[in-house]
Amino acid sequence: MSALSTFWSLWVMALVTFNLGLALFLFIWSQRVKIPTLPDGTTGHVWAHGMLREGLHKLPLWWTLFSAAMFILAIGYLVRYPGFGAFKGTLDWTEYSQLAGDRAASLGKLQDHLRRHEGQTLAQIAADADAVAMGKRLFIDNCAACHGREALGNPALGAPNLVDADALYGNDDATLLASILNGRNGIMPPLGGAIAEADITATAHYVRSLSGLPHDVALAQKGQATFTTICAACHTPQGTGNPALGAPNLTDAVWLKNGELTTIENTIRNGRSGEMPAWDKRLGEQNARLIGAWLHARRNAAPTPPAGGGK
Ligand code: HEC
Ligand code: HEC
Repeated sequence: MSALSTFWSLWVMALVTFNLGLALFLFIWSQRVKIPTLPDGTTGHVWAHGMLREGLHKLPLWWTLFSAAMFILAIGYLVRYPGFGAFKGTLDWTEYSQLAGDRAASLGKLQDHLRRHEGQTLAQIAADADAVAMGKRLFIDNCAACHGREALGNPALGAPNLVDADALYGNDDATLLASILNGRNGIMPPLGGAIAEADITATAHYVRSLSGLPHDVALAQKGQATFTTICAACHTPQGTGNPALGAPNLTDAVWLKNGELTTIENTIRNGRSGEMPAWDKRLGEQNARLIGAWLHARRNAAPTPPAGGGK
């Protein structure tokens, strides 16, 4: 807020003094002024061709007292609150300090609430319905755009389902919080240049065989060799995945996108990467823990069918 310039401050002071002074003068004058009256008690003014004659009554006492109280209130207000030019008032009140005070009070309440959960596991926080409700709100505001409102994932974005038992990196408290706070970026390099087209198809058949999907047995056998030399480094020789790299388990029926032959072939050819932004600056640990508690509660509630986005 910029302060009033001296000119405008003096201008406002002059206006306030003039208006209040004039009103006060009229108020006092009206109490004392003597209006000449005729013997019949009227002023002698007639209206409407003599039908109405103007009488004279003193102002009622309640009106006088009420008006006097208003003057006292107005002057008292100008002494205590801002209003008289640049004079700040003896209370030093501003809308800004009021807002800042209210904000600090509600943040304090929130901090008390959040502090209750310090040192608790996500499972313990998940037992607090208020915390879970806050976590859900935070998830919808920050995460639902990619992971969906119910956290069931979005295969088109490669954003995994966060409430199934399966995880790219891990669902334990520390790993989950690290995923949220630091972000993740799982990268599978494009291997189209390193593997012949025929071998790409064969390897894709082998990958389908790992989770029991229909496949060509002869091709899958041929593909296993490529898998062992190239893919096993990240996905392990059994294809069960490596959480340290975010390399998915290929033996379950859960897919980031889907398990179709062409999708797997394209993944081998062009590689794949999924980027999860870091939230430490935006949310901080306490909020991330609330979200984690909501995910924990969701994971342990009645199982929901995955929406296609796996992991
Ligand atoms: C821009 C889209 C996007 C947003 C927004 C987003 N995520 Fe993600 N998230 C992803 C992607 C993509 C991955 C997979 C990362 C990978 O492939 O390495 C992921 C991975 C994760 C994982 C690891 C899952 C696992 O299986 O180990 C967690 C946990 C997670 N996100 C939670 C959240 C939370 C909580 C929020 C909100 C605070 C959020 N994400 C917001 C895209 C997003
Ligand atoms: C350098 C490590 C690395 C190598 C080598 C690698 N991958 Fe991957 N792979 C990953 C990572 C990391 C992801 C997850 C990418 C993401 O988060 O989007 C992935 C994802 C996949 C997926 C998608 C899984 C799903 O759930 O949708 C398939 C299929 C796959 N890899 C197959 C293979 C095959 C077959 C090979 C060998 C030809 C191979 N990968 C080699 C790291 C690797």
